[in-house]
Amino acid sequence: MIQWKLCSGLLGLLIFLTGCSQEKSPPTDSSKATSENETSKDAAMNTGNEFQLAIQSEPYGATADGQEINQFLLSNDKGVSVSIINYGAIVTAVYVPDREGKTENITLGFDTLAEYEKKGPYFGAICGRYANRIADGKFTLDGKEYQLAQNNPPSHLHGGEQGFDKKVWAAESFSKKDEVGVRLSLVSPDGEEGYPGKLTLNVVYTLNNDNEFKIDYTATSDQATPINVTNHCYWNLAGEGTILDQELVLNCDQYLPVSDVAIPTGKLAAVKETPMDFTSAHKIGERIAQVEGGYDHCWVVNPSEKQPAFTARVKDPDSGRVMEIFTTEPGIQFYTGNFLDGTEASGGYPKNGGLCLEAQHFPNSPNQPEFPNTILKPGEVYEQTTVHKFSVE
Ligand code: GLA
Repeated sequence: MIQWKLCSGLLGLLIFLTGCSQEKSPPTDSSKATSENETSKDAAMNTGNEFQLAIQSEPYGATADGQEINQFLLSNDKGVSVSIINYGAIVTAVYVPDREGKTENITLGFDTLAEYEKKGPYFGAICGRYANRIADGKFTLDGKEYQLAQNNPPSHLHGGEQGFDKKVWAAESFSKKDEVGVRLSLVSPDGEEGYPGKLTLNVVYTLNNDNEFKIDYTATSDQATPINVTNHCYWNLAGEGTILDQELVLNCDQYLPVSDVAIPTGKLAAVKETPMDFTSAHKIGERIAQVEGGYDHCWVVNPSEKQPAFTARVKDPDSGRVMEIFTTEPGIQFYTGNFLDGTEASGGYPKNGGLCLEAQHFPNSPNQPEFPNTILKPGEVYEQTTVHKFSVE
């Protein structure tokens, strides 16, 4: 474990230094680097400090079936950097300075592509076609019943056996005056994992000099289909240990109570006077023992005229690191890494070693007509924007 942490620290430094260099790897078939408006070098000039807004791509490895995967390194002039691979559109690392300027990786991940290819905890990945659970893997659309994989028995979870987290995405980097990013896209054929319609999904990851890491999603389909996509980063603002002493605010007056297999009952319950109330800051560990199995629920984001709406705030009191989340989605799944168990399959991370704040629609919406709509029809465009803003206090 200690050795692993040391290795990942050195790797982080290397990634960080590489991220600040201006060299570019040659484009490959599935991922190529382009430049819009200005080159990253021009965009980063005159910042007056050692960090620069930059984007770099480098080979990450090959999948078991021989597809070359690239890693993109986004960095800004405040010392924040984000690494993304075009396998699963996975965020493999996010380095953020603390109040002393010390940079740590604050997201959980594996060291190798081979580990990401195995069944895992969805570290950093884009989940879909339907993130979260669908009861018994069944839904009816336009009079036809569809049966999906019950890969989290008896439910369907995160898109099935080979969800979007297990796909090779096309990727293209870009560099503008104030931001750098990667545009990833995927075509999910009609019938894939049992879902109707050919779905085309674009995910754009952007980092700017205001320490905002933004995810924009757009999708279209040639037939009506359920869609619910999210990013499954596990965050630990301390960069080690558990998240139990970190503080959370959720701008949510209601949450969705669930059955014993984590399917919402259909009711919206008030958080007031329950351990689910994070409308003011609470340490995550403070009341976790009162919630069977730990937190793994969807909260209802309070309506807001301002979009994306302020939704969540996490603070690590020791390092001073703060992350705020803003989203256009109606729900946020707060999961406290209850199934992490320190084993290799968990990347060596302990139970509660990270937390997920997954902006999304409500679980099992295709079977809950009262929930906000998750059916995308031909001619419509699915859209989501979620922003992670980092700061120190
Ligand atoms: C989601 C679910 C959890 C768990 C994790 C993956 O966040 O809500 O129950 O399945 O993914 O381990």
